[in-house]
Amino acid sequence: MGRNMALPLVMALVALVASLPSASPATAGTAGAFDNWLSANQKDFAITQALYAKKAVGDTGNSIDESLAKAEDNKTTFVVDPKGGGDYKTITAALEAVPEGNTRRVILDLKPGEYREKIFINISKPYITFKSDPKNPAIIAWNDIAATLGKDGKPVGTVGSTTVAVESDYFMAYGVVFKNDAPTAKPGAKGGQAVALRTFGTKAAFYNCTIDGGQDTLYDHKGLHYFKDCLIRGSVDFIFGFGRSFYENCRIVSIVKEIAVLTAQQRTKTIEGAIESGFSFKNCTIMSEGGGDIYLGRAWGDSSRVIYAYTEMSKEVVPVGWDGWEVKQPESSGIYYGEFKCSGPGSDARKRVGWAVDLTEAQAKPFMGTHYVFGDSWILPPPTENSPPSKKTSSGGATATSPAASPSSSPESR
Ligand SMILES: *[C@@H]1O[C@H](CO)[C@@H](O)[C@H](O)[C@H]1NC(C)=O
Ligand SMILES: *[C@@H]1O[C@H](CO)[C@@H](O)[C@H](O)[C@H]1NC(C)=O
Ligand SMILES: *[C@@H]1O[C@H](CO)[C@@H](O)[C@H](O)[C@H]1NC(C)=O
Ligand SMILES: *[C@@H]1O[C@H](CO)[C@@H](O)[C@H](O)[C@H]1NC(C)=O
Repeated sequence: MGRNMALPLVMALVALVASLPSASPATAGTAGAFDNWLSANQKDFAITQALYAKKAVGDTGNSIDESLAKAEDNKTTFVVDPKGGGDYKTITAALEAVPEGNTRRVILDLKPGEYREKIFINISKPYITFKSDPKNPAIIAWNDIAATLGKDGKPVGTVGSTTVAVESDYFMAYGVVFKNDAPTAKPGAKGGQAVALRTFGTKAAFYNCTIDGGQDTLYDHKGLHYFKDCLIRGSVDFIFGFGRSFYENCRIVSIVKEIAVLTAQQRTKTIEGAIESGFSFKNCTIMSEGGGDIYLGRAWGDSSRVIYAYTEMSKEVVPVGWDGWEVKQPESSGIYYGEFKCSGPGSDARKRVGWAVDLTEAQAKPFMGTHYVFGDSWILPPPTENSPPSKKTSSGGATATSPAASPSSSPESR
């Protein structure tokens, strides 16, 4: 990519700074607000880091993790049906029935319908699966935004706005719609962050799911994550965090007529383990429903890392592509933004910022597969088989269906 375009580049950056919403994930209308946001986040991180200090990127072996194999060999299914007739009417109730220190795969078979629940999966409950039918899905929806007041009378903040938060490991979801249906804030509006899904556990896989919201839709917070055949809709910074994640065959859709920013990846030297993070997109489609310009990413962390490979980009993707945001000299920072063999009118790399990389095959390779997230140790196929019948009969009595009788599909060791 040409680097002899200093003047147009400077002009483009000036125009960009003037045109970008200044406030997400930071609610930074002013430097003061930004500092407040930063210190609030630092406080958050201090707490969570103390709790999760030992849980960095994790065991990256190349055979299925032993604990996972055991969990899969002893699975059980809870049927959740809002209309009754299942084992539980709400996801919250089903999750309460999972013991702390859980060691078995617990599949929540979610019958179609809307679940108006705000869900938090505690770190002590690993191996949970949300299973639904992509053609007739379970829709989990809530509508908190960062400015919503919590029980303590204070704004819940970005983390607290989440509809579904997963803090445990080995989570899996298939065919589920995760939604934050708060009215769409003006892009960048203060306190407008409205997270639909936050993944803070490691080794989580999402298949045929929809993650739907506006500003800050998917908090790909921390850990190894895999998103396959998913639809992700949002406006500003709608995939953000310091997850190390591989997005394959996903549709990434901007819903705004103003400016959308697809990613705010937070790779940084200042958070333990975060320097290993980065988002990799392969064979995805980027498009706009709202018609507004789209940026591929802007740097939240000092070393933000995002790769797009074989991805189709609609015409709304701006020629410069990327933005350094708060990073003063992106060209000499640790930012790593790259593209490889993308297509579509938005993929023309000739006017990209000079510090983005037109990757060679060798450079792209480490990012272009489940090996990027050490998938061999944990990625299993989605649970598409039919579930055993509910433990409850329609008359409410218990039946003899035992977990051992459920169709067993042990993990394939690869
Ligand atoms: C399966 O899980 C149940 C419930 O946690 C436990 O009591 C049982 O011992 C487990 N079975 C095996 C073979 O691990
Ligand atoms: C997770 O569960 C444990 C045990 O019940 C509890 O002490 C802890 O506060 C919970 N964590 C969060 C973040 O709610
Ligand atoms: C999952 O999504 C992909 C891509 O949209 C589609 O081809 C596939 O049929 C879906 N799988 C199921 C089981 O719905
Ligand atoms: C690319 O993604 C589409 C779905 O968006 C899928 O149908 C197709 O098979 C994928 N191609 C490859 C090579 O994975």
